[in-house]
Amino acid sequence: MTPLAEILAARIRAHGPILFSEFMDTALYHPAHGYYRSPRDPFGTQGDFFTASQLQPVFGRLIAAAVHAHCHRCGDPPHFTVAEWGAGRAELAPYFAEFHYFPIDAATPALPPPFTGVVFSNELFDALPVDVASIRGADFRLMRVDHRDDAFLWQPAEPVADQWRDYLEPLAARFEDRSHLTLELPVRLAPTLERMASSLQRGALVAIDYGYTHREIVRFPSGTLMSYRRHQALENVLRDPGLQDITAHVPFTYLADCAARLGFECAPLEDMARYLLRAGEPDQFASALDAPDAPSAARLRLQLKTLLFGMGETFRVLTLLR
Ligand SMILES: C[S@@+](CC[C@H](N)C(=O)[O-])C[C@H]1O[C@@H](n2cnc3c(N)ncnc32)[C@H](O)[C@@H]1O
Repeated sequence: MTPLAEILAARIRAHGPILFSEFMDTALYHPAHGYYRSPRDPFGTQGDFFTASQLQPVFGRLIAAAVHAHCHRCGDPPHFTVAEWGAGRAELAPYFAEFHYFPIDAATPALPPPFTGVVFSNELFDALPVDVASIRGADFRLMRVDHRDDAFLWQPAEPVADQWRDYLEPLAARFEDRSHLTLELPVRLAPTLERMASSLQRGALVAIDYGYTHREIVRFPSGTLMSYRRHQALENVLRDPGLQDITAHVPFTYLADCAARLGFECAPLEDMARYLLRAGEPDQFASALDAPDAPSAARLRLQLKTLLFGMGETFRVLTLLR
């Protein structure tokens, strides 16, 4: 067993099966053994997955161009801030150098004071712990995590609380057959958005991630939880806690609804490809692809191709203005 599996198993022995959000939170963010806290780097070739943030300099240059447009919209104030939420390795730092850059990750102790600027996130919302509900017709139950015979396993538990039943009902209603559904509850999404909103006085919140709108939920009758390890997608998210990533697709409609309640104006959800094309359009990608020699130029063109065609249709951008 991994050290984290020992910790989780002991907790379950003492208090009974735990909510999946507690399992996921511990697996990813336990201060000593959590997946994102261990010294092993999860990103890149030697790690478990790539994000767009590793495609530098092209991604950074295009996102910086998009931030410039927001700065301009706000009247080019002298102290424009970029707070990158879920910054990971903070690979975007050099591209935000002309702004006040504030990287925030799960262990960052203090938030920036209220600012005019941009809150930017790439693949943050898919890494927030979720709960899991099992739906059998009119029966909506939380799924807890139990531990038996050296393995973690799902355990149907108490009925879903009213607030989350109200969230699930319209989603479940979209399925023709609702005799056996598994759906996630984004229990940490609104609190995270509220923290972002409390820092952002004026400007934009730009969230890049993969996910679904309420209409698209019908593609996921068994939910969207997934683990990643050594560039392989794994369905068993309960295995080897601390050694593999755990993600859930982002419910964009709910994210936009929460943002509207906080006073944001939501721009239409768009593909990342379209977003980046718009960011590079003013100078026909000249600055994004600027390179000192032919081999570097070829490498940058390949990065742009991966961003537009490899990731551009999977990832989406939600822009929220205030
Ligand atoms: C999938 S990684 C993405 C990292 C980086 N943005 C990139 O594109 O490579 C998700 C990151 O979000 C961080 N994170 C998770 N929950 C967070 C929270 N509530 N506040 C800030 N960062 C958080 C994780 O620690 C992790 O570094």
